[in-house]
Amino acid sequence: MEKPNRKDHENNSKPEMGQSVVNGNESIDISRSADTGATLDGAPSSSSYFSIIAIAEGTEYELSQQGVFLLIRDPDGEVYRHKLCTFLVCFAWTRDSDNCQWGRVVRIGDPDGVEHVMIIPSSALADEKGELRSTLLSQGVRIIGGMKAWRKVIYYLENYDPIKRVRCVAKVGWHGNVYVMGDNKGTVIGSGPLAEEIYLQATVSVRLCRLLGNIDDWRLHVASLAVGNSRLAFVLSSAFAGALLHILGVHSGSFNLRGSSSIGKTKLLIIAVTVFGNHVESWRATDNAMEAVAAAHNDRLMVVDELGQLDVKLLGSIAYMLGNERGKTRMTGAIQVRKPFEWRLLLLSSSELSMSDMMESVGKRSMAGQDTRMVDIPAAVGQSGFGVWENLHGFTGGAAFSDHVEEVALKYSGSAGEAFIRRLAEGREAVRHEWQPYKSRFISEHVPADADGQVLRVAERFALVGFAGWLATTYGITGWPERESEAAAVTCMKAWLTDRGSVNGLEWEKALDQIRLYIERHGSARFQEIERRLRQNQNPDAPEVSKFPERDASVQNRVGFKERRIDGVHYFILPEAWRKELCKGYDSGLVADQMAKKGYLQKSTDGKLQDRRTLPGLVNQRCYHLLPTVMGGEA
Ligand SMILES: Nc1ncnc2c1ncn2[C@@H]1O[C@H](COP(=O)(O)OP(=O)(O)O)[C@@H](O)[C@H]1O
Ligand SMILES: [Mg+2]
Repeated sequence: MEKPNRKDHENNSKPEMGQSVVNGNESIDISRSADTGATLDGAPSSSSYFSIIAIAEGTEYELSQQGVFLLIRDPDGEVYRHKLCTFLVCFAWTRDSDNCQWGRVVRIGDPDGVEHVMIIPSSALADEKGELRSTLLSQGVRIIGGMKAWRKVIYYLENYDPIKRVRCVAKVGWHGNVYVMGDNKGTVIGSGPLAEEIYLQATVSVRLCRLLGNIDDWRLHVASLAVGNSRLAFVLSSAFAGALLHILGVHSGSFNLRGSSSIGKTKLLIIAVTVFGNHVESWRATDNAMEAVAAAHNDRLMVVDELGQLDVKLLGSIAYMLGNERGKTRMTGAIQVRKPFEWRLLLLSSSELSMSDMMESVGKRSMAGQDTRMVDIPAAVGQSGFGVWENLHGFTGGAAFSDHVEEVALKYSGSAGEAFIRRLAEGREAVRHEWQPYKSRFISEHVPADADGQVLRVAERFALVGFAGWLATTYGITGWPERESEAAAVTCMKAWLTDRGSVNGLEWEKALDQIRLYIERHGSARFQEIERRLRQNQNPDAPEVSKFPERDASVQNRVGFKERRIDGVHYFILPEAWRKELCKGYDSGLVADQMAKKGYLQKSTDGKLQDRRTLPGLVNQRCYHLLPTVMGGEA
């Protein structure tokens, strides 16, 4: 492992009260060390444990399965045992990657005989508020003898000096050369000159990964279904791709599967999480919890279903999260500032509307740059009629296949991600070398030569997915033909490209209806009429209008202007109104583009969707110029 003072991507992992380490909530042998098979000395199981601990001269404790006892010797040498609490042993020191935030890892036996491992921050021992006491009590510790006994327990914890040191991290994923899986076995993969045990401090909101079945089962029952199914091969490959971001220096981004309901979108998400065994998230949470969830998907694919059901504020947070790759700095307690969570991840989601439509509908312009981070892929495949599937593998219909996918996804999970990371941890350098040529070839073979920068940036992410699936295939994990993942990535990328820059059929019709209805309803009340004496040269666009009144008192909440010309009524709509009113709920840029293509919108002389005009009271004003064709018949 690398020397863990890399501030660039290491998190400060201050132990917080009430947190248990990842392998803490179950009775698991935590003496298992990080992938080396070594045991943690001083990590005794209560059943086998007996020891006398001399802490200071004259102060001795006895620790056994029965609990912690204070030993009192009377002047005659007689020893009395006074029970302080149930089994509680401190077996290792812990500190974060900056060697700060020291704490102790303790093992606790509860009244059911279940053992818990938790981290007690050193600072908690100095805390007078009773928080530590209540935390220990809630984990099943019994303290015998009120406050007096409690003070002795504190003394015992404070002064016991375990030999063992472990490192605490606050997120899954890569920490130098080791990868923290975040599963319920506490698996940490990889090694290096400074290898030592790493413990993940799981926060309450983060669920551990499930490990179900082995890699052969996964390959046979799950991965095999992806052959011939572009969307399925794509989402599985994306799950592998999440672990490559850091290694290859690719930034966070998202893919959103967009499509109508009951076509199998959710099933795709359910199967995507089988790679690492994580969960399909739904966020009803606050921003803070969302940060913890993001950190729990660091170097991984984070899967969120039904974006449309999210609070729009959260949608903004998703954009923020993907863009910034770190949470907000905040105060904890009176003096400390906890370093923000950091992450790098791929997001996979599903929705009926596109991300930008959802943002638009509440008046948030999708932020510049976010458009390339958030990519909508049409979920339904071309003409198959089977929803998100192309190849039903012998099943009788889309629904039957979808249900089968869900069934296997619930049985086999987690093994593929682990197998992938094990291979990756050995060959990070080689993978880095293979990526550049792969990407160049992918782009030159599959991306149109005249593609702009935005398309190229997104194409890189599609290439990454193809690459990750290919890598998993060469590692023997998927059992796919070698080019399966690339074909899937290309199919999805083409679907995105086709969809992009034009509003797709049904949506476009709806947007056009909405605009027509708007003009019908508000044509007289909210559009100010431009009466213009034509100039001698008969140029209707000459800026004569400045002679006319700036305001027409009969027009309230003006959204634009209209002008009667020989060929009919022309509308000049102000950008704000175009976005918020006429195109509400749709991507106004795409709608304008489509309007121009259909001949309903007059572009500016230099080819822009927005024209610049002098209008009453407004000089050189940007506006959308709708032609008379928009209200009737074909252009
Ligand atoms: N490809 C499909 N063809 C027909 N029906 C489907 C298909 N996929 C799913 N369904 C039906 O829709 C239900 C919900 O599937 P789900 O994956 O949640 O759809 P979505 O997320 O696209 O709304 C399924 O239980 C099944 O009955
Ligand atoms: Mg769904």
